[in-house]
Amino acid sequence: MTDSYIQQLFAERIGGNNYGKSGAIYKFEKIKRAKRAALAAHPGAEIIDLGVGEPDEMAFPEVIAKLHEEASKPENRGYADNGDSVLKEAAARYLEKVCGVHGINPETEVMHSIGSKAALSILPAALINPGDFVLMTTPGYPVFGTHARYYGGKVHNLPLLESNRFLPDLASIPSDVLKQAKVLVLNYPNNPTGASATPEFFASVVAFAQENRLLVIHDAAYAALVFEGKPLSFLATPGAKEVGVELHSTSKSFNMTGWRCGFVAGNELLVRAYGDVKDNTDSGQFLAIQHTAAYCLDHPEITAKIAVKYSRRMTGLVEVLMRSGFHTVKPKGSFFLYVHAPKAAVSPGDQRVEFKNAEEVSQWLITRKLISTVPWDDAGACLRFSVTFIAADPRDEERVLAEVASPLADVKFEF
Ligand SMILES: Cc1ncc(COP(=O)(O)O)c(C=O)c1O
Repeated sequence: MTDSYIQQLFAERIGGNNYGKSGAIYKFEKIKRAKRAALAAHPGAEIIDLGVGEPDEMAFPEVIAKLHEEASKPENRGYADNGDSVLKEAAARYLEKVCGVHGINPETEVMHSIGSKAALSILPAALINPGDFVLMTTPGYPVFGTHARYYGGKVHNLPLLESNRFLPDLASIPSDVLKQAKVLVLNYPNNPTGASATPEFFASVVAFAQENRLLVIHDAAYAALVFEGKPLSFLATPGAKEVGVELHSTSKSFNMTGWRCGFVAGNELLVRAYGDVKDNTDSGQFLAIQHTAAYCLDHPEITAKIAVKYSRRMTGLVEVLMRSGFHTVKPKGSFFLYVHAPKAAVSPGDQRVEFKNAEEVSQWLITRKLISTVPWDDAGACLRFSVTFIAADPRDEERVLAEVASPLADVKFEF
């Protein structure tokens, strides 16, 4: 294809006149290709997908019924803009009841989002000037950093390592970076490590933010999916509202990824700035969806049921992987199990296969064992297994887990 003048018009932030010319194949595309190759080599076989990062089930029937009811109301039909008070009030109640966060003002300290991804893409416009640093954990969900770079910001990565319980080491930030840093982005329970934060860690984050005049954005996409105890909200930390906001989403906690609804809560000024940019970005989520999300927030027992399912599956997966020699500990929440990738695999009558990194392990697992995982080589070589695999009921879950165990049974992994 010859270059049209359009090729010369792209912004530098997406590659300028080289846009679309890079031959690089990204991780998720490599996984897709490996799956296609595996299915071509094993016609009729099923790939056990432990890679997906979204729930296997639909929203609960009562939630769908509520959407039907709300969608039938003429007053919900139009532009929602920054939303009415229904979701805001439900969010404040939810934070109080489920997360123990007191005193959130629904009118001024809550604003809906069209999912947390949308909020993470909007907030940098309100905060980032060229040259500002964003402190992001790695591996992690990159959206805030990507948009910060679009505005000329820079990203300083904080590795999440097992030796520090997958919490960032704030003391490791070089002083010249810290001077120019504006925002610290956190996410617990964490994707991909499955790690949870602690009240002590959040307290140290608030102190660090105050000391260094930083804003904190806590992406709590998995916060409600806990296997024991209550969800830990950053906003429950004394002083948190003075330094930051928290992003909640119905995507994972209510099986509503496609519905696109969540909320941003916390510091009033930050919520207002988010709302101002949002108002110039979208016209709000459909009120029927917002009202249904509000219904969900008033029914946290739905999330509790979903968490019981993931917890059961996680116990099973941990057992299967431990039998194969992986070192795993059941996480306290989320649906992710993050393990060190093996350095080699030996199968009987087969050659010893060495792996240079987690990506090679993941490709081998898909093509040779029909098991799909997501590799992370950002801070050590690790694999992410997700318990969102398709299974109709607990018996079916056992069938899937047996299908994971069986092709691994005769493999000896070396770590
Ligand atoms: C850490 C993290 N944050 C945010 C999101 C996006 O959530 P939402 O569906 O609310 O946009 C995801 C989705 O995978 C995620 O893993």
